[in-house]
Amino acid sequence: MTSGVEEPGAAPPAPPAQAEAVFGDSLPKARRYAELLADDGVRRGLIGPREVPRLWERHLINCAVVEELLPEGAEVVDIGSGAGLPGLVLGLLRPDIRMVLLEPLLRRTVFLDEAVGLLELPNVEVRRGRAEEAHGDLYTDFVTARAVAPLPRLAGWALPLLRKGGSLLALKGEQAEAELAAAEQDVSKLRPSVSDVIRVGRGKVDPATTVVRVTVTSDGGPPPPGSQKKRGGKKKRGRKR
Ligand SMILES: C[S@@+](CC[C@H](N)C(=O)[O-])C[C@H]1O[C@@H](n2cnc3c(N)ncnc32)[C@H](O)[C@@H]1O
Repeated sequence: MTSGVEEPGAAPPAPPAQAEAVFGDSLPKARRYAELLADDGVRRGLIGPREVPRLWERHLINCAVVEELLPEGAEVVDIGSGAGLPGLVLGLLRPDIRMVLLEPLLRRTVFLDEAVGLLELPNVEVRRGRAEEAHGDLYTDFVTARAVAPLPRLAGWALPLLRKGGSLLALKGEQAEAELAAAEQDVSKLRPSVSDVIRVGRGKVDPATTVVRVTVTSDGGPPPPGSQKKRGGKKKRGRKR
């Protein structure tokens, strides 16, 4: 007997017309991911059942349009990926980028590993851990994050991971300008940087996705690529995971 309540395992809605324009050749993989979220994602408590009807607009397309900010071949770390938002979406849409999904909770990394395997995404790696534990170990061009922490705390986790010229791209809500204005001084004390708020995906998703971008303008974080290995002597590195 059914209760009339939508159960996990329900199919996601059909992709809206914009999904084809946004995902192009990657649409079959995006559909498969949407099915996985609606089924296993709900069953395993990674997303709420009420998200299923709005999976495309509020989650997949909303995250996918951030790809406009990623140049060809970019290296990206997605902090606090959860069920894969936005990192897995960006990885499946852009096979040219290298994406690391950094997530501390085992239940979530197990799901992410399964999704990456199922969707056959050789450019996406899942790492279990907290962002702050990766300082000194992981260096990248971009950090993405959605719904992970308020801006000052998020910047504290993200900026040490960035190469000079690299950017934190934080997906935020309508109050992004106010959040940035309140946090900007503290953020630039963490590491010299310039910040702005941009809206991406106009005409593809409504409302457009709001991104707070913090671009670091100095060295002083990570060493340049290729010089990361210590050559003996003092060891500053923390424990290995
Ligand atoms: C509210 S969920 C958002 C998940 C996903 N980004 C989304 O938009 O659906 C926040 C995620 O951040 C992760 N998280 C919390 N603290 C973290 C940290 N210090 N480093 C990396 N991830 C963290 C949590 O485990 C959780 O998966």
